[in-house]
Amino acid sequence: MLSGKNILLGITGSIAAYKSLQLLRDLTAAGAEVHVVLTQNAKHFVPPLSLQVFSGHPVHTDLFEPGDEMAHIRLARKADLVLIAPVTAHFIAKMALGLSDDLLSGILLATEAPVMIAPAMDAGMWAHPAIRDHVSLLQKRGIQIIGPEVGLLASGKTGMGRFSASEEILKRLNAVFSASRPLMKGEQVLVTAGPTEEAIDPVRFISNRSSGKMGYALAETAVDWGADVVLISGPTCLSPPEGAHCVFVRSAEDMKKAVDDHLPKASLLIMAAAVSDYRPKRAAQEKLKKTGKKTAIILTETPDILSERPEGPPGQIVVGFAAETQNVIENARKKLKKKKLDLIVANNVTQDGAGFDGDTNVIRLLHPTGKIDSHPKQSKRCAAEAILAAAMEIRRRRVLQ
Ligand code: CTP
Repeated sequence: MLSGKNILLGITGSIAAYKSLQLLRDLTAAGAEVHVVLTQNAKHFVPPLSLQVFSGHPVHTDLFEPGDEMAHIRLARKADLVLIAPVTAHFIAKMALGLSDDLLSGILLATEAPVMIAPAMDAGMWAHPAIRDHVSLLQKRGIQIIGPEVGLLASGKTGMGRFSASEEILKRLNAVFSASRPLMKGEQVLVTAGPTEEAIDPVRFISNRSSGKMGYALAETAVDWGADVVLISGPTCLSPPEGAHCVFVRSAEDMKKAVDDHLPKASLLIMAAAVSDYRPKRAAQEKLKKTGKKTAIILTETPDILSERPEGPPGQIVVGFAAETQNVIENARKKLKKKKLDLIVANNVTQDGAGFDGDTNVIRLLHPTGKIDSHPKQSKRCAAEAILAAAMEIRRRRVLQ
């Protein structure tokens, strides 16, 4: 996707700027034509000469370069995409205000290309209300934010603010360019996400630790890839993905009804929701009071939404998840067969980086043929891309048959 693309790489004065050398190497290795613009502060952290050698082009730093006074317009027009990586808290504030007192900020006002930023700063700065406001304003303007990640920071503390890995940044760039060559155009995708809540009484419920992030990443990626997306979500703290039609539900029963309603139109169903397997047999009408005695709640099974699904349209692809704590492959294989799936995404939720509420996942994709594709720890967005790419490969083979 990056081959032949003209990327303007802006680098600002963060300690993470030294990592932009690797990013530049990866971009050029992927076939991109990269022009680098450095802010004055960035020069403290990364040598322009190295950037010049790796990009194969002169590196720009000054708004008023003698003989090239219109550089900001020229570079802005030439770019297929502007990527600022790393971007500092100060530069984010400048972007939000629309200031243009240096070459890079001038380019940002002049360009019509998509803009992506990969922040890097200390956790406290990233959490500051001023930065939160600026970031949400930039998002509203359509600027895509890559990361930051949780990890070890320059201060020696661990927190949110770490510059995203070069691999992650490239994947996000690829997603932007694939959106203009939509990989999933014509697909009607139905995704479920999050936990379900099964009422005990009007104020209490049984649920699980699912954050919904995996399902939301799937919905978001499918929208980026040109699909029509319906997201059926249990209760989560996440913002609804832009461009997806969202249906919010609470219980497994509600989720089943919503899935059954939308299934006849879906060319691809992805059941990423962590559906509660049990619910209290009877939910109390009034809040249960303490009695001082031992008590028990009688549970009954909820419907298995996947197993009891109505028949879908011809060619429908069905993807399930298997969140396991032991015998991952064996259990996932059984579910793949029993639930008549085309693909199952298996993960060991006790493994580091693969938990329910984290930002990363470690997945294995199991096919009915016995084939297993293992993926290393990656962001949920990248995991979503891998799952959707596998589903589209199944579609491609089906069309050829
Ligand atoms: N699932 C479902 N309805 C349920 C429970 C699960 O549709 N009532 C779906 C999940 O969304 C997932 C797949 O079935 O795609 C496997 O879910 P999982 O919880 O791993 O397995 P279960 O079938 O519930 O079996 P167990 O909990 O015993 O492992």
